[in-house]
Amino acid sequence: MVGKTAGGSAKPLLRALQGETLERPPWWLMRQAGRYLPEYRELRAKAGDFITLCLTPELAAEVTLQPIRRFGMDAAILFSDILLVPRALGQSLSFESEGPKLQPLSETAGIGELNTGDIGALLAPVGDAVRRVRAGLPDETALIGFAGAPWTVATYMVEGGTSRDFHRVKAWAYRDPAGFTALIDMIASATLDFLSLQIGAGVEVVQLFDSWAGALSPDGFDRWVIAPTKQLVEALKERFPQVPVIGFPRGGGLLAERYVTETGVDAVGLDTAMPAGFARDRLQAHAAVQGNLDPVLLLAGGAEMRRAVAEMRRTLGQGPYVFNLGHGVLPETPPEHVAELARMLAEPVRAG
Ligand code: CP3
Repeated sequence: MVGKTAGGSAKPLLRALQGETLERPPWWLMRQAGRYLPEYRELRAKAGDFITLCLTPELAAEVTLQPIRRFGMDAAILFSDILLVPRALGQSLSFESEGPKLQPLSETAGIGELNTGDIGALLAPVGDAVRRVRAGLPDETALIGFAGAPWTVATYMVEGGTSRDFHRVKAWAYRDPAGFTALIDMIASATLDFLSLQIGAGVEVVQLFDSWAGALSPDGFDRWVIAPTKQLVEALKERFPQVPVIGFPRGGGLLAERYVTETGVDAVGLDTAMPAGFARDRLQAHAAVQGNLDPVLLLAGGAEMRRAVAEMRRTLGQGPYVFNLGHGVLPETPPEHVAELARMLAEPVRAG
């Protein structure tokens, strides 16, 4: 962990991720581009299909910039999806009203049906989108790229979509750890290629979304969350030592401490349930922290939201801190509430 930087980058997000404590925390929101914005819904209707939107550089860049124009966050996050990686590995993917749908991988067939694919060629439009976004961003706004962490991507590949209890993917991991490791390794390698492509095109930070880290037992968390994340961070640091990595082990609870100390991430995303005091006392000495307003408080707005935001800033703002939600913006969120949040975050925190 780098201490307070002298000079270094002027972009507030990068300064916080380098370990600097800022008077006003930089902020962005997971899923800041999306259905709560009328301009997104309009463009999405024109594109027709979500995958087309992700893989058409003009459209993906435009959607990435929409929330920045409206609210002026300190960072844009590339508009894309973690499930483009399974698609590039040859799995069928569609987005239905219930959520993503993939042709599930079977434990018996293993990874045999997949191909290692040429990620660089298949996902080249994502690189074009990155270049377009960089050209359209204000100087002080950072650009974040992302991918799913191997475990979370594996859950979608094996379950065929979002799951309630993850019994297929966990049973495979317990019964056949060697076969499951082959799947995790294949995803990790494709993810390294995908993130390298994004960084090569101009993203300045990457976030690894481990949205289902909390579904595992502590042993499983070691093996399928910490170990592959550590390897991926090491490989990224070898290629791009200057690019900060944010890890988001959603639902990790107490294990977030080992996640931070063992994986080598520069910052850790806190989910909604993570107590700010624990993050301050046990995590912030090792890494910058990012989070974690309940997305439902942003949806509800009003005095409760303001109180929670001020409290969070008082607790976490004494160290390296990036303001965010504990999970993504909900589609029902009134955009005016995000505008109010932006106004609050532009002011110094009030005592009391
Ligand atoms: O603004 C941003 O944060 C960038 C864009 C972004 C999307 N997906 C766009 C999207 C990001 C960072 C993601 C990550 C992602 N995708 C995750 C990890 C974060 C998390 O939410 O836990 C996961 C698990 C996925 C997989 C995925 N994609 C699901 C489960 C769904 C369906 C749920 C939903 O909200 O509809 C998607 C679709 C998706 N990805 C949408 C968007 C804006 C909605 C698509 C639409 O317009 O209909």
